[in-house]
Amino acid sequence: MHEFISTWVARHGATRDKLLPLLHALQEEVGHVDDTLVPAIAESLNLSRADVHGVITFYHDFRRQPAGRHVVKLCRAESCQARGGAAMEEAAAERLGVRMGETRGDGQISLEPVYCLGLCAIGPNALVDGRPVARIDDAALERIASQVAA
Ligand code: FES
Repeated sequence: MHEFISTWVARHGATRDKLLPLLHALQEEVGHVDDTLVPAIAESLNLSRADVHGVITFYHDFRRQPAGRHVVKLCRAESCQARGGAAMEEAAAERLGVRMGETRGDGQISLEPVYCLGLCAIGPNALVDGRPVARIDDAALERIASQVAA
């Protein structure tokens, strides 16, 4: 991965404003941004390790560990919460066997928060492997559970 970082920086530049694009590129390449890469990222963009770590941990989009084979994201923003999102989150965690923000022990499913999918009027909403699923209810949860079992 160090080679990926140096190649990326050589192509796109070593300025501080390249931190977010580099982190996105790394996550796209390997699925997460491993903590062991923080020193190399910091050095290549002339930032402190604390700067890099702070950005990785601030943005929910960055994963520090590999994701499960399936990723279920549940919307935690206001409209979905007003439409029963918190109860659905609890039901999803129970049905899928994984707590919010974690990956199930068998590596099959990661359950993650997302903050508004632009479908506020038809919430509560989810993203299942990148596809939006609206009006999450018990039936929808069953369909999701079947989908992510494979
Ligand atoms: S608040 Fe959930 S989609 Fe907008």
